[in-house]
Amino acid sequence: MSTILAIETSCDETAVAIVKNRHILSSIIASQIDLHGTYGGVVPEMASRQHLQTINPCIAQAFASAKLGWDEIDGVAATVAPGLVGALMVGVTAAKTLAILYHKPFIGVHHLEGHIYATYLSDPELQPPFLCLLVSGGHTSLIYVKDCGVYEMLGSTRDDAAGEAFDKVARLLGLGYPGGPAIDRAAKMGNREAFPLPEGKVSLPEGGYHPYDSSFSGLKTAVLRLVQKLKAENQPLPINDLAASFQETVARSLVKRTITCAIDYGISTIVAAGGVAANSALRAHLQAATQEHNLKVYYPPLTLCTDNAAMIACAAADRLNRGQTSSLTLGVQSRLPITATKQLYH
Ligand code: KG4
Ligand code: ZN
Repeated sequence: MSTILAIETSCDETAVAIVKNRHILSSIIASQIDLHGTYGGVVPEMASRQHLQTINPCIAQAFASAKLGWDEIDGVAATVAPGLVGALMVGVTAAKTLAILYHKPFIGVHHLEGHIYATYLSDPELQPPFLCLLVSGGHTSLIYVKDCGVYEMLGSTRDDAAGEAFDKVARLLGLGYPGGPAIDRAAKMGNREAFPLPEGKVSLPEGGYHPYDSSFSGLKTAVLRLVQKLKAENQPLPINDLAASFQETVARSLVKRTITCAIDYGISTIVAAGGVAANSALRAHLQAATQEHNLKVYYPPLTLCTDNAAMIACAAADRLNRGQTSSLTLGVQSRLPITATKQLYH
């Protein structure tokens, strides 16, 4: 049993949490959405500076809300990769400093492994093997989770990540940042059959299409062309219908690939994780498809889908329970495949 203090600063949330194995004792999230909203996306330099200002109050708040002190902490963790280098540096430096000061082991965590572990917080009985559909601002992956740290990448995106596509289409429709929740809200008032949109497919050199890979650039361009056409005809933009049609196409295509992959590999449990797993259409499609094919499905509550430090702490607790810790010389990395987490630990 390990109690971990974890810090997550890979993008635009300063998050600190204290977790005992799979049980959240406190989880503080200071979002920078208002700061970046005016620019329509995350400004890396501003994110780092904001993390610096917010990190110490967040740590203090995490302790106050968990009602415990350093004596009860077994290890200090931080997201080390992937993410914005300057932003990651703030969290990692804070975590290493605290580890040295309070004589605790330091555990570096891969951000995507954190997203996978978020599901353990809401469903503590869940165990590998399972297929994780990991859909976030930077990733669209189908990961075969065989055990802690044992991952096989079965599918990915050839261009934009799912969340990135949501954010770009939202900007196109004038819905603001972050785009995913805005599109989800607008779509609830729209007709998902209003505009038939192309589901992106990835061609194989030998002919046919890749069964598990996604592509969203064609879909994004199709929405752009539609918007341009409607504007040229001086027609009012049916924003809700466009949002609903786009969201429906993404959800349908992601779920189709996930189910095909699970069936092909004989995996009976599916986990949806990452910010886009908060999407209502994606959840509805997954629910229906898994029921139809007699598969189990898990997804964390909305607050654990998007970035938080509790998921990082949960992953770190599992690592520490297995005797794995990181060197204080471990650096941050903007990119690192999830299949390479071994290099983070001694
Ligand atoms: O996992 P996350 O918080 O950060 C990354 O690791 O990237 O994911 C953020 C992404 C953003 O692109 C955001 O627009 C998207 O998740 N997102 C959603 C929803 N909530 C957040 N996308 C679709 N529907 C949502 N309800
Ligand atoms: Zn994330």
